[in-house]
Amino acid sequence: MSPASLRFFWFLGLVWVMGCNSKTPEDPKNLNRIKDLKTKQYAIAGRELYIQHCSNCHQKDGAGLGLLIPPLKNADYMLENPARSARIIRYGLKGEIVVNGQTYNQPMPGNPTLKSIEIAQLMTYIFTNWGGEETLYTVDEINQFLAP
Ligand code: HEC
Repeated sequence: MSPASLRFFWFLGLVWVMGCNSKTPEDPKNLNRIKDLKTKQYAIAGRELYIQHCSNCHQKDGAGLGLLIPPLKNADYMLENPARSARIIRYGLKGEIVVNGQTYNQPMPGNPTLKSIEIAQLMTYIFTNWGGEETLYTVDEINQFLAP
């Protein structure tokens, strides 16, 4: 391998390491502190779903990504209207929105295969973890949120 390409791979490795460090994952111990058992179960299952379906974009710590992806952590837009947030998770979102005073305008794809129970678990996780208080969403509530 030529010295130039060695330098290049070294550089790639550095970028990779820095990228990993920038995503400080939320502290899972916080979930263990949840008092209500059902809320805790939903939040733990929701965390897995979040890592699988959402963290690529919104990041593990919910901080979003620069001016492209809005945060979920302490996000006024997400918290002020839970029904709208449930519909965004199922159907996606297009067009300009303002989150915590910052404008975003990139399409988010929907998740048509997520079941109501999975959206309930996801919503319980993101609202409890990043909304400041324990918040349980039931399947019935999610079905009401998603009803046309
Ligand atoms: C491909 C990247 C991507 C993925 C994956 C993704 N989102 Fe988003 N999300 C976005 C973008 C971009 C917006 C802003 C949409 C706009 O500007 O109209 C957004 C907006 C939102 C909002 C409303 C704005 C806010 O920050 O309060 C919520 C809530 C949300 N996403 C939750 C989720 C959840 C939960 C998941 C996983 C089920 C998810 N998103 C998966 C890119 C993504």
